[in-house]
Amino acid sequence: HHVAVLLGGLSSEREVSLVSGAACAKALENLGAKVTRVDAGRDLAQVLTAVKPDVVFNALHGEWGEDGCVQGVLETLGLPYTHCGVLSSALAMDKAKSKAVMAAAGVTVPGGGLYNRHDVARDHVLPPPYVVKPNAEGSSVGVFIVREGANTPPQEVVAPSWTYGEEVMVEPYIAGMELAVGVMDGKAQTVTEIIPRTDFYDYDAKYSEGGSQHVLPARIPQEAFDEALRLSELAHAALGCRGVTRSDLRYDPVKRLLVLLEVNTQPGMTPTSLVPEQAAHLGTSFDQLVLWIVEDAYA
Ligand code: DAL
Ligand code: MG
Repeated sequence: HHVAVLLGGLSSEREVSLVSGAACAKALENLGAKVTRVDAGRDLAQVLTAVKPDVVFNALHGEWGEDGCVQGVLETLGLPYTHCGVLSSALAMDKAKSKAVMAAAGVTVPGGGLYNRHDVARDHVLPPPYVVKPNAEGSSVGVFIVREGANTPPQEVVAPSWTYGEEVMVEPYIAGMELAVGVMDGKAQTVTEIIPRTDFYDYDAKYSEGGSQHVLPARIPQEAFDEALRLSELAHAALGCRGVTRSDLRYDPVKRLLVLLEVNTQPGMTPTSLVPEQAAHLGTSFDQLVLWIVEDAYA
């Protein structure tokens, strides 16, 4: 098979995608596939028309690659492609809309909602602690925590250098720990507990060597573990997802509160990423995982 691996792209997660894409392309070559690496730019349709792949491996993250836009181009070109389709990609990328759909399906999601960034800058829209984040970004880009006891609202965060739109997602901060669950073929894999070296699992913690420690399987009560698996499968299904996704959750052991933050439809495939690590833990090598993802594109 001739596989085109889409990588790079135009989003703020370009660097992450270059690493994900390189790893996936190498795995495909190890498996004996013919691979063409395609940096997904404005000329994507022309490039793919010339390359004529049998299947497209989407290793993009963020805007255009993860939000349904590239998926629409691939549908239009009639090319089979990995991961989610147009609607589920677009839905999952929009935090406000995906939360509404997931909540309707019975998934526990954070409260809060969308606020105009000027209102967020002027006064506390929620009692601290709370989290301010772009409505449609990944890799913790633009995420800011307003700590308990903070006197001033996060003026410096949302104005005027804020480039993520007028509407800002504001959610109560959930104390405790960060969890991640990979879902393949609608089936939750296992639960990873993430211990960031700093107190927040931000961009650097995600991608720098030793930036965070992963504990697999997560050291939480069995009941919470099972619930994390259940909520992740429910969320994947509610959004109509396909292939592999990763749900991010928070668990407060004091309140015994488990909340699903979001579903990532293009989960990271870098050497420090969570889904490949879960697969390895369950006995599936990186190459086998990539093979599964490609074969699923035809399913
Ligand atoms: N947005 C990053 C790539 C992830 O979810 O893994
Ligand atoms: Mg994300």
